[in-house]
Amino acid sequence: MAESLSRRELIKWLWRVPVLAALLGGGYGVYEAINVHFLKRNPAAEPEFDRVADVAVGTVAAFSNMWDEVAFELPSGAPNGGPMPALAVRLPGPVAGGLTVDSGVGAPSAHLVAFSRVCTHQHCIVVLNRDVDAINFGFNYATDGPKLTCPCHLSVFDPMRGGRAVSGPAVLPLPRVRLELRGTAVVATGIERA
Ligand code: FES
Repeated sequence: MAESLSRRELIKWLWRVPVLAALLGGGYGVYEAINVHFLKRNPAAEPEFDRVADVAVGTVAAFSNMWDEVAFELPSGAPNGGPMPALAVRLPGPVAGGLTVDSGVGAPSAHLVAFSRVCTHQHCIVVLNRDVDAINFGFNYATDGPKLTCPCHLSVFDPMRGGRAVSGPAVLPLPRVRLELRGTAVVATGIERA
């Protein structure tokens, strides 16, 4: 009698399991939606860097034109413990954590900044995307300038805003890479502290 009672109780509870699972799943979905749409983190106003072994990025001449980019690799720092792909780019204006250099006698200053290319969502590799139409329509982000985009789940990062994630599932900004000038050589010397 007691056994059939507990079996009945168990059966009575069993139907609640999928309901609870659906509620939890729905709640998590709402949390993620809020996180992704409203809680994207701002990059630090003054980034702090951890020192890394110097890596030659290129010469100032490699950044002669606006949006010129140079890809390079830090010896370590990727989420898998291996080398970290990174990218330096010339921007129309200065960005915190970037480097401003003289681009030649009488020429305007060049504003450079470098980022890790490891997407902060699920670690695919971001690229500098100059195709504004593709960003507007393919990535569903309204912009009139190049952005760093991730091909895996379409996150968009704004280099002019310190690498902030501005669209897609990524929430955290891309870590910045410190650049220093040695003569005419641009050298990477640090990675932004998390
Ligand atoms: S890994 Fe970049 S958006 Fe998912």
